[in-house]
Amino acid sequence: MSSDSVTQLSGSLSIRNGNLYLEECNVAELAEEFGTPLYVVSETQLRNNYRRFSSALQSCWHEGESRILPALKANPAIAVRRILSQEGAGCDIFGPGELEAAIRGGTNPEMISVNGSIKDREIITRAIDIGARVVLDSRRELQLCNDVARDLGKTANVMLRLKPYMASLQTPSDFLPTWQIKDLTQIIKYGIPTSEVVEMVGLFENCNAVNLVGYHIHMGRHSKDLKVWESLVESYVCLMARLGELLGGYVPKFVDFGGGFPTPDDCDTDVAIKEGPTPAIEEYFGCITGTFRKAMDAVGLPVKGITIEVEPGRSLHNNTAIHLTRVRNVKEEKENKPWHWAEVDTSEVFLGIGGLNLDAPPFDYIVANKAGQESTHDSDIVGMTCNAEMLFHQVPMPHTEEGDVIAFLNAGSYKEPCANNFNALPRPGMALVRGDHCEMIRRHETIEDVFLRDCIPGHLV
Ligand SMILES: Cc1ncc(COP(=O)(O)O)c(C=O)c1O
Repeated sequence: MSSDSVTQLSGSLSIRNGNLYLEECNVAELAEEFGTPLYVVSETQLRNNYRRFSSALQSCWHEGESRILPALKANPAIAVRRILSQEGAGCDIFGPGELEAAIRGGTNPEMISVNGSIKDREIITRAIDIGARVVLDSRRELQLCNDVARDLGKTANVMLRLKPYMASLQTPSDFLPTWQIKDLTQIIKYGIPTSEVVEMVGLFENCNAVNLVGYHIHMGRHSKDLKVWESLVESYVCLMARLGELLGGYVPKFVDFGGGFPTPDDCDTDVAIKEGPTPAIEEYFGCITGTFRKAMDAVGLPVKGITIEVEPGRSLHNNTAIHLTRVRNVKEEKENKPWHWAEVDTSEVFLGIGGLNLDAPPFDYIVANKAGQESTHDSDIVGMTCNAEMLFHQVPMPHTEEGDVIAFLNAGSYKEPCANNFNALPRPGMALVRGDHCEMIRRHETIEDVFLRDCIPGHLV
């Protein structure tokens, strides 16, 4: 490699003179300055992704507005949410902590969807008080919303989370191939059982403090196949038509399709079926809106003025961050079963993955300070807890030494929020890169933090 060579990789990553760069920052220098392990988010990548999603949805839905409500769970850092709020995004949240993060992240309350099962009075009160929308998951929540809104002297905007049945779909789930998607989506707890929702709609008449603004679904990432998404939307509209009749010709103002859109750079270890192409987000949005338009027409429901919404998590965030770890030791067995190990200072417990990745690497990876170098051998990359921690199994590596920095790519969704304190390890912090500038947006946890919740009863002091 020449001394001034630049290779542009995907998104905000490039290799310059043998070093990995995120935007204009030398990744190995970030590791040195901010410490490892570390999650590093690219602000530019996040903004670009959001703009791409937003214009893709707008360009295929002209009948009304369209909104992107990124799932906060994928990356709950408040600074990250502030970037999305600046871009005009709404937010899908689950539980009181995520509601707090959405508020602190500057989300327009009207664009917060309060999702999830077994919501308690506290979260419903907060949601209604700030004007967020409650997505009902059961009959119980309808009653609770009505009581709370009446007590607050407000009106609660609510949606019904449905469980459409894709009766004729014969496709197994990418997660659990022994199960059909149509069955899994029925038995997984989320959403109001259809038999309950058809009874429940009659209750709206007496719930004067509640305003039904629309419907919601979230299938989850069961399939890349557009046929599955078509089937989901068709069965969604059938159920809407059935409920619409029971509600005296009701037409929703908002129709939410949830998240679950696969992304080509996702090496998710939970996904068993990885074969086949991954359509681009533009194709998913085209499929959903096109099918929705046709299906609504078929059941005689108008679409003019309907606002459609999506709640992408992994697809929006995945390529916005990398995870940095430092090689602390290299080991080599030359006898019995010759083997190489690079022992790094991160762990499966910081990466939301299992620790026996024998079949496929859980991430694409680059040795940041040796990015242009040829590989010299195969090695395991092993994490730091007392588990076996085979993060990577026999992957090609350049000559590896203590101090090398390895970047795991596409680590922007569900990695940091799944980190835990196994072995009493402090969880890694998160930094944000913007151009040639980088700063911490979530500090590294300390050992003191790890024990902050412990209390010693008097007789043990
Ligand atoms: C209601 C809801 N919306 C959106 C999402 C985001 O899903 P994904 O990250 O697969 O896009 C989730 C994830 O669990 C969810 O529960």
